[in-house]
Amino acid sequence: MNLSRRRLLRTAASGLILAPLAGCGGSTRGGGNVETESSAGSLLRSTARLPEPFTVPLPIPPVLRPAGTDVYEITQRVSQAEILPGLRTQVWGYNGIFPGPTIVSRRDRKTVVRHRNELPEPVVVHLHGGRTPAEHDGYPTDLIPPGSAHEYVYPLDQPATTLWYHDHRMDYTGPHVYKGLAGFHLVHDDEEDALPLPKGDRDVPLMIADRSFAEDGSMIYPDVHSDFISGVLGDCVLVNGAPWPVMEVTATRYRFRILNASNARRYRLALDPLPPSGPSFVQIGSDLGLLGAPAAHAELQIAQAERFDVVVDFSAYPIGQAVTLTNRLGQGGTANVMRFVVARKAPDDSRIPAKLTDFRPLSPSEAVVERTFTFQRGGAERHATSLWTVNGRAFSPDHIAATPRLGTVERWKLRAQNVAHPIHIHLAPFQVLDPGPYATGWKDTVDLASGDQAEVLLRFDSYRGKYVFHCHNLEHEDMMMMANFRII
Ligand code: C2O
Ligand code: CU
Ligand code: CU
Repeated sequence: MNLSRRRLLRTAASGLILAPLAGCGGSTRGGGNVETESSAGSLLRSTARLPEPFTVPLPIPPVLRPAGTDVYEITQRVSQAEILPGLRTQVWGYNGIFPGPTIVSRRDRKTVVRHRNELPEPVVVHLHGGRTPAEHDGYPTDLIPPGSAHEYVYPLDQPATTLWYHDHRMDYTGPHVYKGLAGFHLVHDDEEDALPLPKGDRDVPLMIADRSFAEDGSMIYPDVHSDFISGVLGDCVLVNGAPWPVMEVTATRYRFRILNASNARRYRLALDPLPPSGPSFVQIGSDLGLLGAPAAHAELQIAQAERFDVVVDFSAYPIGQAVTLTNRLGQGGTANVMRFVVARKAPDDSRIPAKLTDFRPLSPSEAVVERTFTFQRGGAERHATSLWTVNGRAFSPDHIAATPRLGTVERWKLRAQNVAHPIHIHLAPFQVLDPGPYATGWKDTVDLASGDQAEVLLRFDSYRGKYVFHCHNLEHEDMMMMANFRII
């Protein structure tokens, strides 16, 4: 499909969805198949008093100290956090915190992470975007039972990028991630280190996730089999676990590694006010590493699990300026994400080079096999509810939907029906043909609006074995929108 046709489909789809909602301030719960604020899902309203936006300082998740060279230990446990000022929220956290601690690895240096499960339920840990042998990828049924531990080994022979780790237990990924089981895992390498990009405390990970809170401060996760079958949309936007936080910045460039870790919400991020000169965001990296060259954006559309590595230049603003990161797909509270306040001048020797890395586009002529996967509602049922499926099939660990050969490139056509579906493929990095503004570079997740489709070229160049691909709307994933491929 050519670019203009793909764009047209996108526009038509979002137009249809937005029209009936205009002016009604967002739907409340109900209507299992509703698209709210252009994300698939139903809005769950908090009964807790939510804080004034931009009053809580932005937390930065701590970098995890190794227990030995490249060896890390994480205990998954229940703990109490103060997310809403004055209230206590029970979270399930890696080392008891949400987001979990950030793990920092170097390319080609094997990282070992020992997870101990002190939670009341079995868990699975997946390193999202990792080039990981199948036995360490966190297959949805490779459970760590309560009271036991598991050692994951990550070779990390992959370019510098922003990965994240999160729970992946079959049927329970949505509630587990919602309770807090998500953290960053960064990969650095010499090539990236040599670039004059913002570094140190001007290299900031931002994990965006929406949640809803009950009056006592607890997170509400509903029974998704009825009203929330299309997804759970919270009304409180958290960044690094804090509601609509504020960050003081100097009038310099900052690098933000933006991750959408929400269960069901998509965002279109913009700066308000726009910088008086220059672009709002200069994208330098995508899901799986640096772009070949920087790309300027006025806004960023980010679906669940996607990462945008961007530079924002606050020197374009006057000192004292408050700059709000807004969400143009949101309404009311969800129209805001966080705020930056430009506090003072500071020296800045960073810049954005015109060339970032050697990016070789794959050519469709390299593809040896073509496959089509349709992500839609129906074809299988559970408790008389029609499930989310891939090619009409509910997930089963035993059914293999594709058997690509190691060392080959394949072309997959991914089609989204009924509502938006962000499609994530484990292990195999891919490039989107006709990527539009937001899907360039090496990707592991592609954002598809309802009725949209994308053709991707996947490179199977790392390991043999069985892996999953699925919708990263976590409610869809839990309701079976997942399938296996086996690399042979
Ligand atoms: Cu981020 Cu299979 O998941
Ligand atoms: Cu993954
Ligand atoms: Cu989906």
